[in-house]
Amino acid sequence: MRKPLVAGNWKMNGSLESVRELLEGLKSGIDAVSNAEVAVCPPYVFVPEVQKLLDGSAISWGGQDLSVEVSGAYTGEIAASMLSDFGCKYVIVGHSERRSYHGESDELVAKKFAAARAGGLVPILCVGETLEEREQGITEDVCARQLDAVIDLVGVDGLACGVIAYEPVWAIGTGKTATPEQAQDVHAFIRGRIAEKSAEVAEGMRILYGGSMKPGNAKELIGKPDIDGGLIGGASLVAEDFLGICTAAN
Ligand code: 13P
Repeated sequence: MRKPLVAGNWKMNGSLESVRELLEGLKSGIDAVSNAEVAVCPPYVFVPEVQKLLDGSAISWGGQDLSVEVSGAYTGEIAASMLSDFGCKYVIVGHSERRSYHGESDELVAKKFAAARAGGLVPILCVGETLEEREQGITEDVCARQLDAVIDLVGVDGLACGVIAYEPVWAIGTGKTATPEQAQDVHAFIRGRIAEKSAEVAEGMRILYGGSMKPGNAKELIGKPDIDGGLIGGASLVAEDFLGICTAAN
């Protein structure tokens, strides 16, 4: 049985004050959520404050990205060990915003996955197609390519330490959610692709959905057999909405 995971990707949002307020709201409402794992991924600078406020709570935290390097002259980069130092459990790799705005290739994302794993973090690997790719009918090809790059580098057993997030790019921040059936189809495809290498890894792998997930659609999405939780953007910035999604996953 896969334990659902609901992870908030705060992206580049928040202030020290709003972070404190949001976390107080989450902590006071989280007790009701016992069967789902919950995590937040703040911008790097807020990680120490998040650690201070969430230490000992039921909520984990993580980074939104990391360097492939261990240390050295890489201005602006953050290493896996630094995230670990501040108690991070997770780190997102290959978010579509990193792939498109920062030109991250499948190969680089695979190296980030490996760096996270080597540093003892749980990578959340994002995959997903653009609207153009969906309209061309190559959704599965795109997801397979993004997934295979990681499997080629770390092997299917290496993949097993992580979590996958299927995030159709056209559904991110647009209010257009994939229908539960559309999402389920791709999730089942991804699980099947992993099963070609290892049925056991495929069975245990958590595959989250991301893209305009809200309290109102979360239950139907997470209710699908291959959807094991959510990676939440906008709705993770509002305590009530994020808790609503956590409750749906519960
Ligand atoms: P939204 O929930 O704002 O659509 O963002 C999804 C996302 O990109 C999470 O990583």
